[in-house]
Amino acid sequence: MDHESRAHRPFAPPTPPAAGFAADNICLIGLMGSGKSTVVPLLAQRLGFAFVDLDEEISLSMGHPIREIFEQLGEEKFREEERSQLRRFCQQEKQVIACGGGVVVTADNLECLRRQTTVYLKASPETLARRVGPDKERPLLKGAVSVAQRLATILREREPLYRDCAKITLSTEGKDPDTIVRELLAQLPAEISSPAP
Ligand code: S3P
Repeated sequence: MDHESRAHRPFAPPTPPAAGFAADNICLIGLMGSGKSTVVPLLAQRLGFAFVDLDEEISLSMGHPIREIFEQLGEEKFREEERSQLRRFCQQEKQVIACGGGVVVTADNLECLRRQTTVYLKASPETLARRVGPDKERPLLKGAVSVAQRLATILREREPLYRDCAKITLSTEGKDPDTIVRELLAQLPAEISSPAP
């Protein structure tokens, strides 16, 4: 990888970190099936960063799988915990964080994500549906006659929010995880992708 040329790549300056926020985390956002959980450990390994799956942290801290949290405690409780886990990890540094697809529906989270290097992994509803498969465990797909149509509806609502807080948007359409990681590394700001030795 040519670090020299990457250092000169045009890149919007990051929003300065607010008190208590580290600026060098990478947050991956996008709908279910966009590849966040697959890409996160690969990218973290390439950068020498830690990796975090926010859903796993929520599940651990609430003591239930995500599906049960939605069913037994309701989406509001899930979103509260999601907000507090996102803030917790954004106060640490050098992590690649896989966020749940709905992280952007909480207004506070947008502010937090804008202060990180947030990457929107994008794919069409048809591709997302194919990757997700007939997954009955996912709360937002419950009762859907067509998974692709349900995802298209959710994507229409969320796409502006994803774009609002992402510094990088990357299509994952037809790409394997290694290709996604390579393309992502090439777009990261030089201070993250080639830190001083
Ligand atoms: C959700 C996506 C899920 C999980 C929860 C809510 C959403 O994460 O956080 O079921 O609102 O889109 P993934 O995007 O990792 O599947």
